[in-house]
This record gives sequence, structure tokens and C-alpha cells, in this order.
Amino acid sequence: MKKALLLSLVVCALGISHGTLNNTVLFDREIVRILDSHCVMCHAEKGPAFPLETYEQTWLQMHPIYLDVIARHMPPWPAVPGYGIFANDNALTLRENQFIVSWVEGLGPRNAGAVFSNTAAAGAEQPAEVRAHTDFGHWQFGEPQLTRPLAANTIEAGQANQIKRTPVDLGLTAPRWLRALEYMPGDYRVARAAVFTIQETGQWVGSWTPWYGYLSLPKGTAIRLPAGAHIMAEIYYKGGKERITDQGKLGLTFAPEPAPNAVSDIVLDAKAIAAGRGPAGRLRGAIRLTAETHIVALRTETAANLKSIEVFARKLDGGTEVLLYAKDFQPDWPTPYIYKDPVVLPSGAELTVTAYLANPDGPQAAAVRLTASVFHKAGAQPPR
Ligand code: HEC
Repeated sequence: MKKALLLSLVVCALGISHGTLNNTVLFDREIVRILDSHCVMCHAEKGPAFPLETYEQTWLQMHPIYLDVIARHMPPWPAVPGYGIFANDNALTLRENQFIVSWVEGLGPRNAGAVFSNTAAAGAEQPAEVRAHTDFGHWQFGEPQLTRPLAANTIEAGQANQIKRTPVDLGLTAPRWLRALEYMPGDYRVARAAVFTIQETGQWVGSWTPWYGYLSLPKGTAIRLPAGAHIMAEIYYKGGKERITDQGKLGLTFAPEPAPNAVSDIVLDAKAIAAGRGPAGRLRGAIRLTAETHIVALRTETAANLKSIEVFARKLDGGTEVLLYAKDFQPDWPTPYIYKDPVVLPSGAELTVTAYLANPDGPQAAAVRLTASVFHKAGAQPPR
């Protein structure tokens, strides 16, 4: 017993020192994990982009991968690190970034340090092929209580970006309290993103992106769905190599009883500042909160000519907190920013959104809309 423990300690210690001395990054060890968690939801045979599932596929794309990762162009995620902590953040960590850089600079070794061939050490068995795995066709949040199929959409080969709007009748005969909403596309090659709102009220109830498929609300909070409510689905498509028919499914999970804290939307439009009163190319909007406010998620519209968006709160004590700083939007991948833990702002704080345009003299959006999903702890006064 004692001997076994000692032996495992020795093995452990050897393992660690080996790892620090020999810092070769290997496909089978570090790279495949990065592909699994950040890339193959898109880069797959059955996904919207060329596959990066096997060693060979990845090795052949090594240089574009290097450039895109350094430029933070891939994976798509517009929020600048350091401002807000998001549950659906798909950016590579600094460490993952460094792994990719080292791997490419080391010419892309596979397993035993050799490039390309899946070689076994002398006398050992041929190692099994290591590859990244996709998780298409599964509910990520868990089995929903209610599922509803959406109307099917047929997308032509090579079709440019388009949005299809489909209302979904939930068939509710009484109000229900929504805890979580998830979407599962029928065909991942053409679906890029989906946004869901309550048709009757316009309230946002969740979004789907290839890397994060659901909205799950914090404990004790829920969104009230009125009897007879419809969900409006906006599905973002881009054509694939062939004509594809996609039919997605919506999955809903309810709270067993009315939730103490109802989630609602604060909508804020950033508009042009009167000529001469502010710098050109800047849109701004602000609202004063009249109760303690917990922010679950933010959503911004990515209008044409938009360079960056800053959302911050100015508190009565003069302190400022940046809630989101996003730039380099990729219009193909509209994403919400879902906080890992809701951000709590005190009563009296001013919530401000500033949008900067890439070209102040070019065509401009009249307004850039920010939607914040919020709740107030039971007993606190709602704003306005
Ligand atoms: C949300 C989907 C998505 C995710 C996640 C994603 N990509 Fe992409 N990527 C795309 C699409 C779509 C393209 C364009 C593909 C095409 O033109 O066929 C692309 C293009 C690329 C390109 C080619 C760029 C060029 O200059 O030709 C590289 C390299 C790349 N991605 C690497 C990655 C890596 C590495 C990851 C993970 C760290 C990743 N991507 C994550 C969707 C994604």
C-alpha cells in the first residue's frame, strides 16, 4: 500500500519535471484539446467551415491558423479580454494561444515529437489516431421539458448571408416561467446563429451560436412567458456547398413555480451626439437605474460601419465599471455576452453605451441598440 503510493508520487514528480523540461507542444496532447473546445464546433465535416478534426487537416492549415490566432480573428469573439467575464467566451486563453504558436514554430509535431507520421517508439504498438470530436445533435444544457420543431428552411448552395424569421407557437394555456432556452439546428453546415425573442413583447429569451447553444438563467430568476406566447426565431444562414434543408428544434426548461425575480429587458439606443457637441463618429446613450440592478446578459446590434462598443456604469460615488468593450465584429456571428455571474449595479448608477463608427463620413446607423437582460431582487423597486 505504502509502496504503491510512493511509486505513484515518484511517477507524478517525474511527469511534472518531464513536462517542464521538454516543452515541445504536440498535436495529440495540447493541440487536439484546443480544437475540441474552441474550433470543431465550426471546423468539421458536418459544420460551416473546413474541417480541423484530424492531424493531417490541421497540419496543412498550420500557417493560416498561426496568423488568424495571433490576429485574434479566430475563433470569432468580439469582446476584448479584461472587461467582463462571460460564460460564452470562446476566445483562446493566453496559454492556448502560446501552445498554437509554439506548435507551429516547432513545425507541427504529432505525438512522439515526429512531424506527420504516426510513429510508435521502437518496439511499441502503433498509437491509435488522436482526433478532435464534434458534439452535433445533442442538447448541451440537458434534456429540455418542452421541445418544439421550427419550420424548415431550404438554403441554396452558395447563398449569401440571410436571416429567416419564424414564429413558434408554444401552445401555453397558462403563463409559464422560463429557466433555460436552447436551440439545436438541423444542419450545422448552414446555421450560423439564432436569436429568440417573445413575439408579443419583444423580450430577448436566448441565442444560439455554434460554440454556446443556450441561455440558462441564474437561480431564483426566470422569464415570464404569457399564455399563448409565441417565440420569434431569427435564424442566420449562409449557404454551403450544396442545397441544404435545415429544420431546428427549440428546447425549453421551466421553473416549477413563479420565480421570485423576473428577468426583463432594458433597451438603450446609442444615438448621434448633436453636431459640434461631441466628436464625430460617436453615438451615445445612457439611462439612470432607479433600483439595484443585476445584469444577466448584454446584446448589441452590429450595424454597418460599427467599429467598437463600450458599455460602462458610472456610480454615484464617481466610480466607473466597464461592463463590455467589444470590437472587430464579425457580422456572420452575432453573439450575446452572457455574464458568468450577473453584474450588480447599485441604484442611481448610470448605464452608458458608446458606439464608435469606423468611418464617421460613411453611411451611418441612426442608432445602435443595446439590450440588457436584468432582474431586481424581490422587494427592490423596478427602474422608472
Ligand atoms: C463560429 C465558427 C468558427 C469557430 C469557432 C472557428 N472558426 Fe475558423 N473559420 C470559420 C469560418 C466560417 C471560416 C471561413 C471558412 C471558409 O472560408 O471556408 C473560418 C476560417 C478559418 C481559417 C482560414 C482563414 C484564412 O485566412 O483562410 C482558419 C485558419 C481558421 N478559421 C482557424 C480556426 C481555429 C484554429 C479555430 C479555433 C481556435 C477556429 N478557426 C474557430 C468559423 C469558425
